[in-house]
Amino acid sequence: MEKWQSIHDETPIDPSGLQPSLRRTVRSRAELNPIEADNIRLATVKYLAAAPSGKLAPFTFEWVLKLHKEMLGGVWVWAGRIRTVELNLGSPAWRIQTDLHNLLEDLRCWEGSDIPPVEQAAMLHYRTVSIHPFVNGNGRWARLLANIWLKQHGSPVTVWPEDGITDGTSPIRRQYISVLKAADSGDMSLLIELHNIYAKQERS
Ligand SMILES: Nc1ncnc2c1ncn2[C@@H]1O[C@H](COP(=O)(O)OP(=O)(O)OP(=O)(O)O)[C@@H](O)[C@H]1O
Ligand SMILES: [Mg+2]
Repeated sequence: MEKWQSIHDETPIDPSGLQPSLRRTVRSRAELNPIEADNIRLATVKYLAAAPSGKLAPFTFEWVLKLHKEMLGGVWVWAGRIRTVELNLGSPAWRIQTDLHNLLEDLRCWEGSDIPPVEQAAMLHYRTVSIHPFVNGNGRWARLLANIWLKQHGSPVTVWPEDGITDGTSPIRRQYISVLKAADSGDMSLLIELHNIYAKQERS
């Protein structure tokens, strides 16, 4: 099980959910990481190579699930499926669908408001990751969703230092998690600031 050791503040990895074609070849977290990254890269290019139209990225309930499947469906059988198990984080399983529907309705209200796109994206990022709809991959999905929203609304994307964000020992991850915890306590300003820091060069 050591080979699948998860990092602090991360949903544990259960290798039994690997796609059957990978079960023999992927035997550790180290072997898994690049395979997941390749799958996610395909989805990233699809949606961020150019500003995605409302047709390509409609931000509907079905599409947000499809995005998760596009990111991880080549690796995990549960990709794009709402979890039915409880985690120590996130909405209770029975409420996930309602919480996601409500969020997507709120998103339409923010879109028609004078809230800057980066603040809309940070709220989208926070709300999706705190609902935690899937058994895993929620953080990466929430960050890509927020970036697709930014790109679709003519704003520079947030270039997260993914190596630091996903490294349990990195000060970047500690800061990222502490900022999400501040949002849990009602303070969104630090997450908005972090989005601005990582997009600073493009936005200033
Ligand atoms: N207190 C918290 N409030 C909201 N979100 C949190 C909190 N703690 C952790 N998270 C989010 O949950 C993520 C871990 O969830 P999960 O393992 O499903 O996502 P991931 O995509 O595999 O991980 P990562 O975000 O590290 O790439 C964390 O990275 C962070 O984004
Ligand atoms: Mg994870």
